[in-house]
Amino acid sequence: MSQPSSKVSRTSIFVAAGRAVGAREPDPVARNPDYLAEKLLGDPKTLDVDHPAVRALSLGYDQAMTDVEVVSNVRMMTIRTRFIDEGLARAIADGATQVIVLGAGFDTHAYRCQELLAQARIFEVDRPATQELKKQRVHDAVGTPPANLTYVPIDFQHEDLPEVLRRHGYDPAQRTFFILEGVTMYLPEDAARATFRFVGAHPPGSGIVFDFVYRAMIDRLAKIDMANIPEAQKPFVQRFLDLIKDEPWVFGLPEEGERDFLREFGLELREAFPVGGEESSKRFLTKSDGTQVGAQAIAAAMARMAARARESAQAQPGGQQMSPELMRRQQRVMGYQLAEAVVSG
Ligand SMILES: C[S@@+](CC[C@H](N)C(=O)[O-])C[C@H]1O[C@@H](n2cnc3c(N)ncnc32)[C@H](O)[C@@H]1O
Repeated sequence: MSQPSSKVSRTSIFVAAGRAVGAREPDPVARNPDYLAEKLLGDPKTLDVDHPAVRALSLGYDQAMTDVEVVSNVRMMTIRTRFIDEGLARAIADGATQVIVLGAGFDTHAYRCQELLAQARIFEVDRPATQELKKQRVHDAVGTPPANLTYVPIDFQHEDLPEVLRRHGYDPAQRTFFILEGVTMYLPEDAARATFRFVGAHPPGSGIVFDFVYRAMIDRLAKIDMANIPEAQKPFVQRFLDLIKDEPWVFGLPEEGERDFLREFGLELREAFPVGGEESSKRFLTKSDGTQVGAQAIAAAMARMAARARESAQAQPGGQQMSPELMRRQQRVMGYQLAEAVVSG
């Protein structure tokens, strides 16, 4: 079942909270650039999401960053925001004149990148309930929205996205940049394919940044049995399942098949990588002193996991050990991926 359109998306609040906490990082080289996320969310007490990553808004940064669940969300969102900001800046420099933010939630590009986007038209597409709250928050926290921004209230799973966009003034002939952040996993496969087909029908040089998981992850989520989850991990897993209860993850790309998947729609993969893998953490989370955002909490969590693994190996001597190569592949296909693609000429 997909999210009832009358409900505000809780996942959009969760991810915006990750950006808001990440924007408090003292070191600008590893800070989340989304300085508006916190203002837009407003009073944390009014947010209907019971999760440490959202409660962190009421704590000081150092205290919040001792919790590995908060740290994971902050790290993931900092990587996402910085990668997307880079892609957007490049697209505008290369001549994009329209930006379409699909499943916009509390996305702030239209408000915090006004100079960059001065010559472009921006469309924020979201389900009506979430968009109404967003508009109200923009009004209270930011003021009048920029004149080049158009809100498009639509459930693009059930309505004709190109047609509704056209009615709102979008021009299919213009070079367009799409931001599809935190959305593909919520779309049934036919809606996901229709979305990529729509993107691929734009003039060459148009592009998209998006994130996704592989099918293996969706299959594993569908089969989760809490009885088989190690005791120490149960609270994290349960909180994640509660978070996506009304917004289930239903779509994943074929394992390591994103390049071929995109080609079907006339899109050429420019870059894809696992969010939070070694490379992306080094690129986006390294501070001036060489340490990474949230490194202490991550190290402590890893040490706890290693100790538990040793205990269970002692309890079950002769148990099957996964080879390091298999473990790496497992981490890759179960991870969360970020990508950029362009419409081929
Ligand atoms: C996890 S949130 C991400 C929000 C935002 N892109 C971000 O990263 O901060 C998912 C967003 O996608 C929107 N969404 C999901 N399915 C949608 C659909 N079929 N039509 C319109 N919006 C949708 C939700 O309402 C929500 O705002």
